[in-house]
This record gives sequence, C-alpha cells and structure tokens, in this order.
Amino acid sequence: MHIQVQNLCKTFGANRVLDGVTLDFAPGKITVVLGGSGTGKSVLLKHLVGILQPDSGTVLVDGRDISQLKERELLPIRMRIGLLFQGGALLNSLNVEQNVGLGLREHGLYPEKEVRRIVQEKLTLMGLSDKGREMPANLSGGMRKRVALARTLTMNPEAILYDEPTAGLDPPRSGRVDALIREMSEKTKVTSVLVTHDMVSAFGLADYIYFLYRGKVIEAGTPDEFRQTKNEIVQRFINRDPAG
Ligand SMILES: Nc1ncnc2c1ncn2[C@@H]1O[C@H](COP(=O)(O)OP(=O)(O)O)[C@@H](O)[C@H]1O
Ligand SMILES: [Mg+2]
Repeated sequence: MHIQVQNLCKTFGANRVLDGVTLDFAPGKITVVLGGSGTGKSVLLKHLVGILQPDSGTVLVDGRDISQLKERELLPIRMRIGLLFQGGALLNSLNVEQNVGLGLREHGLYPEKEVRRIVQEKLTLMGLSDKGREMPANLSGGMRKRVALARTLTMNPEAILYDEPTAGLDPPRSGRVDALIREMSEKTKVTSVLVTHDMVSAFGLADYIYFLYRGKVIEAGTPDEFRQTKNEIVQRFINRDPAG
C-alpha cells in the first residue's frame, strides 16, 4: 500500500498543528516520523485512516484521496490498515486469545474454527503460543504490545501504523519490539509507518525519515543523510540525552 500526504494542514482552535506537510510512505518500506512531544505526530497518523479530516491538503491511499470520505466509505480502507496506537488498547476484561480474535469476530468474515486457527497462528508468530488464556493485567508491557501486534496481524493489513511502540519499554524490550517491526516488514511486505522519538529504533529500522517541527517537515532523508544533517534543531534532537 502506498500512502501519500500532500500539503496537509490541520488547526485545532488557535493551534496550527500541521502547517502544510508532505510525506510519502513508500510501499513495503519502513518510514519513520520523528519529532518532539506535541508536534502533531499522532494527529498525522489519525489523518492516514480518516479518524481526522484535514482543513486542507490530501491523503492518498493507493492514489485515492480519502480525506473527504464518509465513515461508511472509509471502513473498507481502514480494514486494510493496522493501527498500533499508544497504550496498545487491550481490553482488560478479555483474555489474550479473545483480544487477538476481536477484530476477526467483529467483522464476522470467518467461522469460529478458522478464527481460532488464525489467532493461534498469530500468537505463535509473536512468541505467545502458550499465553492465550492469560489476562492482559498479568503480562509485561512488552508482551502486551506483542498481543496488540498479533491482533493487528490477524487482519492481514497492507500497512501498519505504529505510534511510539517502544515508549515506556526498557532497552532490551524495545529491541525486541524493533525486531518484530523489522520481521513484519520483511515477512509480509507491509508498508510500515513508525512514529517514535526513540533514536535507536528510528536509525535501526528506517528506510526513510521525516522530521516534524512546528507544523512543518524540516528534514527528510535516509538514516545516513540524517546522521550528517546540518540542521541544528535536528542535530540537537538526535543527540539529546535519551533520559531527558
Ligand atoms: N482532537 C484534538 N483536539 C484539539 N487539539 C488536539 C487534538 N488532538 C491533538 N491536539 C493537539 O495537537 C497537538 C499535537 O498533538 P499530537 O499529535 O498528539 O502530538 P505528538 O506529536 O506528541 O503525537 C497538541 O498540541 C495537542 O494538544
Ligand atoms: Mg503522539
């Protein structure tokens, strides 16, 4: 899936969050969006699936402008895009298997036996084959993310949008989430959009990086190009103390 954002503007009240941004999320590649807290990264992701509509500009999904579509017309497009938003959003009252099967059961495409088979397949892929009966509250943060990713994968998405998937994880766990994102990308040829302010993830995974600052894309390029950036704002962000 090819996702293109052209001249996107979005204002909330007096807050101009996106001020004419243009980005290209190439098919089968991992594209990273970097930027400080509150720079509109999550707002951008929400435009890619029509949760938010732009004031002006377009969002093209495989060449089709989705920015003005009605809810009903958006549904089939949303079904092709997996979202891993901040927090992971597992339902605490359901066990792991039930959480992973949620999307499949909602859409009612498959008989129950097939749902169970797909759920088990994705749990195994995520290294969670024996965790199906566990409740989310009993799992570590990293495991909950893998459960959320397993749920996303049940829908065979053509694109996956990751919103800060390693936030709040310690380095070893972040490393495992990064490895999963890479593996997903290599195994399924999915288009990956990764929003992060984790430099290790960004430079380790990206085919291409965009840097957002005050509503604009102020730098774009490959990880190697970013390492040699002359832009001081970008330099400071890349080299900042990760704990600060
Ligand atoms: N639905 C909304 N209504 C009003 N303001 C919003 C809404 N969503 C986000 N914002 C504002 O937009 C800005 C960017 O938010 P966000 O995209 O969440 O930043 P981040 O880059 O940290 O993900 C923030 O100032 C936030 O308060
Ligand atoms: Mg955010």
